[in-house]
Amino acid sequence: MTESIYGAWKEVLPKIMDSLVSRIQEFNRSHQEEYGEGAYEHLIYRIKSEDSMVEKCHRKDLPPTPVSALYHIHDAIGLRIVCCFLNDIYDNIRFISSLSGVTVVKGKDYIKNAKPNGYRSYHMIIDLAAPFEDVKGRNPGHFFVEIQLRTIAMDSWASLEHQMKYKKDIKNPEMITRELKRCADELASCDLSMQTIRNLIRQEH
Ligand code: GTP
Ligand code: MG
Repeated sequence: MTESIYGAWKEVLPKIMDSLVSRIQEFNRSHQEEYGEGAYEHLIYRIKSEDSMVEKCHRKDLPPTPVSALYHIHDAIGLRIVCCFLNDIYDNIRFISSLSGVTVVKGKDYIKNAKPNGYRSYHMIIDLAAPFEDVKGRNPGHFFVEIQLRTIAMDSWASLEHQMKYKKDIKNPEMITRELKRCADELASCDLSMQTIRNLIRQEH
């Protein structure tokens, strides 16, 4: 059997991910109790598969080693938080940024600045301190986590667009790209309207 690209960290990565996920799920529960609504709609998470990580190392001209996978590449651990409303995204970002052991390394707001194809989401890379030695010999170790935050509308668009990307035999790719972009913009306008409606409902109480 060949060695894992995650080396000795293969076993600790899920533990680090689970402890972060638990803290976010707890925030959701307490938010639910306090406000009668969760902080998000759902949360998914994964350790990047070893095959994808090896492929990404090749793509980035990095040797396929634990240092590449856990130090130079930042999405071995990935979370996706899918929210009902736009404002919920920023509440979750504030909560995550305030957690002990968390330092925000990078924030990319593809909601305010959508990608040219229409893709929208907020991406953050955090540095998470955890009670395990890291690839640089630090203990507590520092582990990167990529967190994507989006609305349900953005999430459904991204899933569809992701499927299309792998269909190589599309007859009219320009037209498909244009239509997908139009859908993304319409969904963005719906997200704004839904947020406005929620604000109005809340003021009435
Ligand atoms: P890497 O691709 O991870 O090297 O970094 P990057 O700087 O390109 O990251 P970026 O923030 O652009 O995207 C990282 C992740 O966001 C991807 O793996 C996807 O999950 C998601 N993503 C980014 N752009 C798109 C897009 O156009 N469509 C879809 N469906 N997902 C996207
Ligand atoms: Mg990318």
